[in-house]
Amino acid sequence: MKKIIAAAMALAMVLALAACGQKPVESDSFTANPGKLTMATNAAFPPYEYLEGGEIVGIDAEIAGAIAEKLGLELQIDDMEFDSIIEAVKGGKADIGLAGMTVTDERKEAVDFTATYATGVQVVIVTEDSAITSVDDLFVEGANTTIGVQRNTTGDLYCTWDIQDEGLGTVERYSKGADAVQALKTGKVDCVVIDNEPAKAFVSAIEGLKILDTEYAIEDYAGAMNKNNPELYDSVNAALQSLITDGTVQKIIDKYIPAE
Ligand code: ARG
Repeated sequence: MKKIIAAAMALAMVLALAACGQKPVESDSFTANPGKLTMATNAAFPPYEYLEGGEIVGIDAEIAGAIAEKLGLELQIDDMEFDSIIEAVKGGKADIGLAGMTVTDERKEAVDFTATYATGVQVVIVTEDSAITSVDDLFVEGANTTIGVQRNTTGDLYCTWDIQDEGLGTVERYSKGADAVQALKTGKVDCVVIDNEPAKAFVSAIEGLKILDTEYAIEDYAGAMNKNNPELYDSVNAALQSLITDGTVQKIIDKYIPAE
């Protein structure tokens, strides 16, 4: 009798789980920390991730929270330099890198990317009285612009390849985007190339700066995950996919980026 009850209960559980349409994490042994979804980020990138009263908040933090909830895991966020995130994921210290990270072919060699959840645009910030009036100005022979970027971001990579390596200017790398913007304000660099949303946040906080209308590049943001943990990848990506499909991700983005 007991056996029948146990079997019935097991069946009921399976049916209940099937009804939710979500595969729960059966064992947490394949996450970096038992019972937790560990997210690696660089919390200096508003509105995707930033510090508010000592807590890491923002679009990526909320998306990770929703993924963790779906998988029955507790979210842990580890803050680090942007260029340490991929190493943390590769080394199995973090389950997912969520950091407004652009999908690139080079990064694909090191990590697997989840579904794309947002679009980013590389823009150029200048001082209001700047002689630089369009992205094209950076590519003019003899322009010799000094460009501030956050180290190892796509802004850094593009400007290094397109401008510095071509002998058209110099790239100054900072640990944080805000530091690059500060360097622009104090005249140490001529412009900053960075993602549009943090650019808006930085420019609105500092007087005398503006964002050029022309775009440098349009790109996709996705989560970075370990290549050798397909079980983890599949559960996290399926959870993210369903949060995209049911509109949760858009709701989170709209909360932080009000429509203009
Ligand atoms: N989208 C750019 C990249 O992937 C910049 C991301 C910076 N993110 C951050 N949390 N600081 O290179």
